[in-house]
Amino acid sequence: MSAEYLSIKKILSQPIIDCDAEIKGWVRSVRKSKKFSFIVLNDGSCQATLQIIADATIDDYENISTMLAGTCVSIVGKLVESGGKGQKVEMQASQVEIVGKVDASYPLQKKATSLEYLREQAHLRPRSNLFGAIFRIRHHMSMATHRFFGDQEFYYLHSPILTAVDAEGAGEMFNVTSLNLNNLPMKKDGKVDFAKDYFGKPANLCVTGQLEAECFALGMGKVYTFGPTFRAENSNTPRHLSEFWMIEPEVAFMDLEGNAKLAADYIKYLINYTFEHCPDELEALSNYHKFNAKQNGEEFVDHLTVLDKVRKSEFERITYTEAIKILAAAKHEFEFKPDWGVELQTEHERFLAEVHFKGPVTVTDYPKDFKAFYMKQNDDGKTVRAMDVLVPGVGEIIGGSQREEDFEKLSARIEEDGMSKNPLWWYLELRKFGSAPHSGFGLGFERAIRYITGMKNIRDVIAFPRTPQNCDF
Ligand code: 4AD
Ligand code: MG
Repeated sequence: MSAEYLSIKKILSQPIIDCDAEIKGWVRSVRKSKKFSFIVLNDGSCQATLQIIADATIDDYENISTMLAGTCVSIVGKLVESGGKGQKVEMQASQVEIVGKVDASYPLQKKATSLEYLREQAHLRPRSNLFGAIFRIRHHMSMATHRFFGDQEFYYLHSPILTAVDAEGAGEMFNVTSLNLNNLPMKKDGKVDFAKDYFGKPANLCVTGQLEAECFALGMGKVYTFGPTFRAENSNTPRHLSEFWMIEPEVAFMDLEGNAKLAADYIKYLINYTFEHCPDELEALSNYHKFNAKQNGEEFVDHLTVLDKVRKSEFERITYTEAIKILAAAKHEFEFKPDWGVELQTEHERFLAEVHFKGPVTVTDYPKDFKAFYMKQNDDGKTVRAMDVLVPGVGEIIGGSQREEDFEKLSARIEEDGMSKNPLWWYLELRKFGSAPHSGFGLGFERAIRYITGMKNIRDVIAFPRTPQNCDF
């Protein structure tokens, strides 16, 4: 009788005992004695490991009992109730097959491996306890996103990745071309002849899917995108990636109030869903942060306690003008002086969320000068219906706004920003044919994962981070 191949997750969650099974995974450790050895195995299906007892009588015992951590094995045996504390089930092996060996140079063998070191081993870090936890949480946060919007009758839209417009008007785009860069076709005026390029004009990787989502919101009511976005900004920080994932809901007939509520509900849903689906992963992360705090002699604040409070509380709401007043009155040395009209810096955002409000805060009605052209203009002529959600530890996690639905005002604003209206003709036409008030926002997925996992660097919550000067793997 051949034993059924089962995941450790399945074995432990039922639990399955008194039955033969086959398991496959990577050895965490082997403890050898004369008569038998204990093998600790992880297969990535869950946080837990399974202990296997291999008797000295099994075939190839000498090799098996001296396997190094990281060896890939396939084991057949009987699942039995465990006598040891902690685990419900263990396996009595009848056959252990070494599928893939490792040698002493296996990079993940050392006990204490720093995050910097693991980033250089990005192809192997999925095998570690820590990265297993982070990426199972990432998976569940994706599922949570589809569930949250799906349950509220949003439609999932796949917005294009190749685009000819600069949708944020910030000029931070990666160009896409099929021209030979060593032999570019030139025009008489000395500029590159993009008419000869693949699309007959310059094209880029998208920085957002918002403008396309607006088209669909003004036809299907409620949509959201969930896809990769690309920004060629030269920011080497723990919160910037050159390629990151964004979730962008866009809703017809919704104003800024509704937008702020949707954003807060979504963040709380992500926390609740992760608490429900990933308790073991969250606990592992909490222990990891506790261990690190102790190593570094820092005070340990359990991020799970903080998240638990957040999911049960209201988000604070202030305007940009109020935020500046709070910052200006604060007894705190800022590198950048908080003045009305200047952009909020990370230090300002974090002060508001961490020190002043001690929780998430939604800041609205920013000066139009440093916000994108598409935001609805307020009657004061100075501010727009923008909103940013700031959270402790991360800063801005969501950026959004009510959109300008008036054709004339939008046209004027595009001109004011020195942008060309030509490539945006279709976006402007939305305001000419059956326009409606509408709003939306973008949640930076990796920033949200940072928030929920408590990880301090965004490079550790995306599979293979792309940052300036770094596109390995
Ligand atoms: O504030 P942003 O630039 O807003 C937009 O792109 C709008 N089109 C969204 C909308 O209204 N539909 O970006 C949204 C979020 C930020 O709040 C941040 O969390 C994340 O995307 N983000 C980044 N995350 C990682 N690396 C970067 N370089 C990021 N830039 C923005
Ligand atoms: Mg923003």
